[in-house]
Amino acid sequence: MSFDLDAVRARFPALSITDDGKRRIYLDNPAGTQVPQSVADAMSSCLIESNANIGGGFVSSENAAAVVASARRAMADLLNAPSPDEIVFGHNMTTITMHLSRALGRLFRPGDEIVLTRMDHDANVWPWVLLARDRGLEVKWLPFDTETAEFDPDDLDKLLSGRTRLVCFGAASNLTGTINDVRAFCARARDSGALTYVDAVQSVPHIATDVQALCCDFLVCSPYKFFGPHQGVLYGRRDVLERLEPYKVRPAPGDAPECFETGTQNHEACAGITAAVEYLAWIGRSMAGATGRPAALRAAMALLFEYEKVLTERLIDGLLRIDGLTVHGISSKEALDRRVPTVSFTHATTAPAHIAQSLADENIFVWSGHNYAVEAARALGIYDSGGAVRIGPVHYNSPDEIDETLAALDRVLCS
Ligand SMILES: Cc1ncc(COP(=O)(O)O)c(C=O)c1O
Repeated sequence: MSFDLDAVRARFPALSITDDGKRRIYLDNPAGTQVPQSVADAMSSCLIESNANIGGGFVSSENAAAVVASARRAMADLLNAPSPDEIVFGHNMTTITMHLSRALGRLFRPGDEIVLTRMDHDANVWPWVLLARDRGLEVKWLPFDTETAEFDPDDLDKLLSGRTRLVCFGAASNLTGTINDVRAFCARARDSGALTYVDAVQSVPHIATDVQALCCDFLVCSPYKFFGPHQGVLYGRRDVLERLEPYKVRPAPGDAPECFETGTQNHEACAGITAAVEYLAWIGRSMAGATGRPAALRAAMALLFEYEKVLTERLIDGLLRIDGLTVHGISSKEALDRRVPTVSFTHATTAPAHIAQSLADENIFVWSGHNYAVEAARALGIYDSGGAVRIGPVHYNSPDEIDETLAALDRVLCS
């Protein structure tokens, strides 16, 4: 059994949309992916059959409660969390992080230290900088090597001290695509008594996630980046969640996970999340012969990662043939296991925004700019010059789409 691109693409109605007869090529996936029909259907059914607040003794309310419970189970399976009670839903990753930072801050004292990185998306940087300002904490910055786009784990050891309370870092960069050694970082942080907050927004769409193997305290992700609806999800280790006093209103539930979910939840998004996880499990079952959802999810992610490496290699190879172009991130074929397919580049003479617009004019969707990776763009020296062009394939993209994009880039940059 092997990856079946045609079967995958058939499940995404958006992939066959044309505009003025021109097909769309979605390479804007790090900013948000398309959804299978089953996700849209699940959300629509929820709005029709389960549209009520939770806690009533009538059927639509019971249905809504079941929808949320089912989404917690699905996310627990996807992240291999020990219990669905360690899954918290929120508006998006940024909002969850802002919210949780306030509760976590109650554990810290002035003079305590937190470690942030120069590689992370600002959603895993600025909430903590604001917290540090409010609570009198000291921020220590973990740099990365701008040539290799990777951290040196020993640099983390140099920053850790008996006062370090929290280490925040990303599992994969949304700019360079680097995959970080989350497990090693968590082990080092834990050894020094610090909690860990892992931004897995850009890794969950591409690699299997196992919060138990990683031994992290918190891990956040965004289902709209993995073929689901706009929503955020937090895994929080039960004993740490139980130590936190949440910012909540009085009548709201007092126990985790609900006590961290402010106000009425987005039930239709929860329905979509379950369907997105089921979609991934379908890949594992139908294309890798796996049985049981957790095993099917692991098998699916292994299959997707191998297929995506083919796309990444083709993309980077084509980009590096263009004169004056610099790929910011891992580009060697041997090191593709250490990156997701998100590839950012700059050109010696053509601005990123111009390149992205020229591709958009050909119905090829990519992003340009710093993409909120403020610290990383600064470290790479591209922040003030328009950032980079970011091309982000996922498993529903075809080799053919990569070739078409490279041909379009040739027209923009080589004519
Ligand atoms: C690595 C990373 N972290 C965090 C975020 C923010 O996610 P959300 O839009 O769910 O707040 C993004 C969004 O692109 C991201 O790429």
